[in-house]
Amino acid sequence: MTTYNVALIGFGGVNQALAELVATRNEAWERELGFRLRIVAVSDLRFGSVVSPDGLDPKVIIESKFAQVGFGELSGGSSQAENEKIIKSAPPDIIVEATFTNSQDGEPAATHCRWAINAGKHVVTTNKGAVALAAGELKTLAKNQGVKFEYEGAVMSGTPIMRMAKKMLIGDQISGFEGILNGTSNFVLGRMESGIDRFSAVKEAQVLGYAEADPTSDIEGNDIRLKVVILANELLGANLKPKDVACEGISRLSLNEIVAALKENSRWKLIGSAIRDKDGSVVANVSPKRLPLGHPLAAVAGRINAVSLNTELLGPVTISGPGAGRTETAYALLSDIITIHSDNLARAG
Ligand code: HSE
Repeated sequence: MTTYNVALIGFGGVNQALAELVATRNEAWERELGFRLRIVAVSDLRFGSVVSPDGLDPKVIIESKFAQVGFGELSGGSSQAENEKIIKSAPPDIIVEATFTNSQDGEPAATHCRWAINAGKHVVTTNKGAVALAAGELKTLAKNQGVKFEYEGAVMSGTPIMRMAKKMLIGDQISGFEGILNGTSNFVLGRMESGIDRFSAVKEAQVLGYAEADPTSDIEGNDIRLKVVILANELLGANLKPKDVACEGISRLSLNEIVAALKENSRWKLIGSAIRDKDGSVVANVSPKRLPLGHPLAAVAGRINAVSLNTELLGPVTISGPGAGRTETAYALLSDIITIHSDNLARAG
């Protein structure tokens, strides 16, 4: 039986949900997956850090008053975040990077990933900024260091769009995709169809935990732009940066327009898409589109995301599922760790 020492960098909702899963599922993982996780460190800019090479009890951390008083009062705790020291120290085998998304330069998450990979550690991350802006560099670095860099949760939370496309559609060619890639804006559009104003609908999405710290990035399409870049680079072999993707959000759509569209058997949806042109170049875009009710993406409601892939041999293949949420995104981290474990087993022969 294998135990992986993990360090949680960033302790927002996603890593809190992973800690909850470790607290309740380790025995089942041991039986069903052949490994268990030992959390040896947690570090967060707001709460400080807590470290124990022998393993922290996730239940104790979750049930502590860290949100009010930080980690300083816990055994092994400090009021200071110690990201660099923890990432570079010996105990963790896997760094779980779930700090805030920075869409400008991907930092500090990209640096956390670099530190970890250079220290010979596997990295799993949900950080869209770091993945959209630095995945190419980090994948090469990880390959050279003989470790894994996995990031399924950067797009569609635990719904396995990237792994499904790369593993299960092998031998087919994907020439493009279109999708609903932001739970908050899709939820907001749905609430506006019921006559709720945008401001109140965004507040609801914040309470439900779907929205980004700054929901502007959900509403103006920047969050989708990062995900379109990640999918285009991953599935279409593009080399896009966010600035290459034209982007328009839903703020210009009025309540009247949204309600009126529904009366005319159509729906406004915020769509992210990319297509490979005949010359091989990839063109990507984010913009609101008025879809007829019969369109497969028109029925995708609430925080649910969906992506329709254009494939050469199968035609359109659509996958839909949660695109946001604490536990849903924590599941993506687990699926990345399962991939690391399978790779380790394959290497061991
Ligand atoms: N704010 C994002 C959304 C979270 O609403 O989809 C997941 O990336």
